[in-house]
Amino acid sequence: MGQEFRAKGAHIALSPVAGPLGRSAYAGRNWEGFAADPYLTGVAMEETITGHQDAGVQATAKHFIANEQETARNPVYSKNGTVTDTDVAAISANLDDRTMHELYLWPFANAVKAKAASFMCSYQRINGSYGCQNSASLNGLLKTELGFQGYVMSDWGAVHTGVASIEAGLDMNMPGGLGSYGSAFGVPSYFGGNVTLAVNNGTLDVTRVDDMIVRIMTPYYWLGQDKDYPTIDPSTPDLNTFSPISTWTREFNLTGESSRDVRGDHSKLIRKHGAAGTVLLKNNGALPLNSPRNIAIFGNDASEPSKQLNQNNYEFGTLLAGGGSGTGQVSSLVTPLQAIKERSAQNGTKLVQYFLNNTEIVESDLDDLWIGELPNVCIVMLKTWAEEAADRDHLDVDWDGNAVVENVASKCNNTIVVTHSSGINTLPWADHENVTAILAAHYPGEQSGYSLTDILYGDVNPSGHLPYTIAFNGSDYNAPPTTAINTTGYFDWQSWFDEKLEIDYRHFDAQNISVRYEFGFGLSYTTFNISDVKAEALETNITAHPEERKVMPGGNPALWESIYNVTISLTNSGKFAGAGVPQLYVGFPESTPAGTPPKQLRGFEKVYLEAGETSTVAFELMRRDLSYWDIISQQWVIPEGEFSLYLGFSSRDIVETHKVTVVSA
Ligand SMILES: *[C@@H]1O[C@H](CO)[C@@H](O)[C@H](O)[C@H]1NC(C)=O
Ligand SMILES: *[C@@H]1O[C@H](CO)[C@@H](O)[C@H](O)[C@H]1NC(C)=O
Ligand SMILES: *[C@@H]1O[C@H](CO)[C@@H](O)[C@H](O)[C@H]1NC(C)=O
Ligand SMILES: *[C@@H]1O[C@H](CO)[C@@H](O)[C@H](O)[C@H]1NC(C)=O
Ligand SMILES: *[C@@H]1O[C@H](CO)[C@@H](O)[C@H](O)[C@H]1NC(C)=O
Ligand SMILES: *[C@@H]1O[C@H](CO)[C@@H](O)[C@H](O)[C@H]1NC(C)=O
Ligand SMILES: *[C@@H]1O[C@H](CO)[C@@H](O)[C@H](O)[C@H]1NC(C)=O
Ligand SMILES: *[C@@H]1O[C@H](CO)[C@@H](O)[C@H](O)[C@H]1NC(C)=O
Ligand SMILES: *[C@@H]1O[C@H](CO)[C@@H](O)[C@H](O)[C@H]1NC(C)=O
Ligand SMILES: *[C@@H]1O[C@H](CO)[C@@H](O)[C@H](O)[C@H]1NC(C)=O
Ligand SMILES: *[C@@H]1O[C@H](CO)[C@@H](O)[C@H](O)[C@H]1NC(C)=O
Ligand SMILES: *[C@@H]1O[C@H](CO)[C@@H](O)[C@H](O)[C@H]1NC(C)=O
Repeated sequence: MGQEFRAKGAHIALSPVAGPLGRSAYAGRNWEGFAADPYLTGVAMEETITGHQDAGVQATAKHFIANEQETARNPVYSKNGTVTDTDVAAISANLDDRTMHELYLWPFANAVKAKAASFMCSYQRINGSYGCQNSASLNGLLKTELGFQGYVMSDWGAVHTGVASIEAGLDMNMPGGLGSYGSAFGVPSYFGGNVTLAVNNGTLDVTRVDDMIVRIMTPYYWLGQDKDYPTIDPSTPDLNTFSPISTWTREFNLTGESSRDVRGDHSKLIRKHGAAGTVLLKNNGALPLNSPRNIAIFGNDASEPSKQLNQNNYEFGTLLAGGGSGTGQVSSLVTPLQAIKERSAQNGTKLVQYFLNNTEIVESDLDDLWIGELPNVCIVMLKTWAEEAADRDHLDVDWDGNAVVENVASKCNNTIVVTHSSGINTLPWADHENVTAILAAHYPGEQSGYSLTDILYGDVNPSGHLPYTIAFNGSDYNAPPTTAINTTGYFDWQSWFDEKLEIDYRHFDAQNISVRYEFGFGLSYTTFNISDVKAEALETNITAHPEERKVMPGGNPALWESIYNVTISLTNSGKFAGAGVPQLYVGFPESTPAGTPPKQLRGFEKVYLEAGETSTVAFELMRRDLSYWDIISQQWVIPEGEFSLYLGFSSRDIVETHKVTVVSA
């Protein structure tokens, strides 16, 4: 991604996402981010920012902060056509200080530590004031506590004041004016000339304007964007010379001759990542496929899409991505149907028949539908849409997909279900005796079909693990989005984060609720063992409070120092080579304040091993990993007493527990 942005001459990528984190299973934008866990999201933020910026492109950590639902994310504007007067304010995410630090701020701290050039403030309010004019979060948490040196840009149209936003820590107003709102309502900008006016009339100190300029321009020079940076691709909107926006007849028509091809051989990586992100949830020996003679494919997700961008209401076609500004149109697409036809031909399959109309599949007696005898394998392809600006109403697959599975499995005793989905689906048929395998293939992008056949045929051994929990029932999840507020008071949209730290597996563990597939779960074609767990302190006299050191990007550097080294032996005990993903969860001592989740992810590795091979895997625990946020001392504090270090292959498949006391009373 970094290389492609650079080659297009784009200086800034609006990526990556740690907000939403995944407080609610239903949030429409969860798929843009990484995981309903701050530790995993933090690691992914750091890796992604480093990747973008190593290529010379500025990364933007977004959406800061507590941007956990789409419903009512923006104010409702007055019907009389002004944006300065709104009828209803956007929703306010109201959360306490500990929850802020231990869940929502955590991955953003990694982003600051990775020296993200930019942060994007969010649409909704936080404790009552808008994300882009919230001094406690922008000046306080981000710029002071975490030592962020770059600039804060607004989400598009998220600025509702001038001077107040600037003084709260906003450095850049995007998209310049008020974008579509601006042109529709004739309001150019709260910034621009207003900044000059505010300085000249004595309202705004010019040193703050200098600060904004230094913050905005420093990354440009720091990343060398002033030297040898590629020119801006002429196909870029606004600058587009061969098909200007005014001539577009559909979205993103950038196919003209001047569009610069920056793809290189990235399709190989896309294929690899698509397979790596596929999670094998169930396998009764059906996979990898063993040269079936007769394959039947079912479902409207199997074949060519009617449209490749913002596919929401289009019934037919495989889903590549969700919708909104985070979507993308691919330039070539390998569908599952195409890839299965190609790959199965190599394995001597004689018949590939397919049925793409879900309604027809549900209404038919399949014996009348398929040719000849019972197929050796029935592959059901299902999809689930999610998009920006809307939350999900349910956690089922779309297009009556549950009924498709039920009908196919009633006849076919080897039914393999594949989902292309934004994330959580409750999969009510998961335990059906004829559903012999389930693959959650998420949104794989352009190499979708090949990424899938690589897994189906065992060319790639699956190693993906769920970055969220699949519950039995949507009502089992905590913290649904706030919806259905039908009163019209200005401040009526309030979202109280009363669940505090109890989101996703933290909630299911704390409330002891059974789940279908837990956070961290994922099968392989081989098996792995963990043994020889050791935990070694890396400092002799670990104090409860961190040494107070000068704040660096990421905050107090003492928080990022490794203080414990946990090592294990990981063995591939099965017959296939493949990658195992051992995970370390930490259980805090009893002295930790109430509300601490029973276990929290604090380490994982993906380790490729040949069959029979053993390797040592180390998890270095930083001071922050073993601390809670103490609201009194406003510090990360290591509690007294015994920690439990849980080693396993998911949040519920714990195979070894090791106890350590980090600080004594
Ligand atoms: C628009 O409506 C708001 C109340 O919603 C009112 O305060 C404001 O004066 C109106 N503006 C104009 C230009 O009519
Ligand atoms: C929000 O309000 C809560 C409760 O008063 C407080 O604990 C927290 O620090 C506040 N956070 C922000 C960012 O204002
Ligand atoms: C200043 O902001 C106001 C909205 O508060 C807008 O109407 C006006 O056009 C802006 N002035 C400039 C010079 O951008
Ligand atoms: C100064 O200018 C700013 C920006 O136009 C405006 O918001 C503010 O009300 C002005 N203050 C005074 C005292 O004129
Ligand atoms: C895309 O733009 C080109 C150049 O303006 C135009 O000829 C073509 O018809 C457009 N295609 C579509 C599908 O809008
Ligand atoms: C799908 O099947 C249903 C039921 O047979 C039919 O009504 C519908 O027209 C079909 N859709 C398409 C696009 O053929
Ligand atoms: C499983 O498939 C077989 C056909 O192979 C069928 O007879 C049986 O009823 C199916 N089981 C269920 C629970 O539908
Ligand atoms: C499915 O049923 C067929 C025919 O009864 C049988 O030969 C085959 O072994 C069964 N497959 C599975 C996976 O149970
Ligand atoms: C899910 O929970 C709701 C509310 O408790 C209940 O009405 C519904 O029947 C449950 N659905 C399933 C599939 O268990
Ligand atoms: C308003 O919402 C409440 C709670 O969701 C519901 O009970 C009530 O019927 C709604 N009223 C109207 C007028 O829709
Ligand atoms: C450990 O730290 C404590 C508190 O700072 C100090 O009193 C003690 O002497 C130290 N012990 C050693 C062995 O360094
Ligand atoms: C942690 O242990 C591993 C494996 O023994 C070792 O390679 C690594 O250097 C250790 N880390 C530290 C910080 O000592």
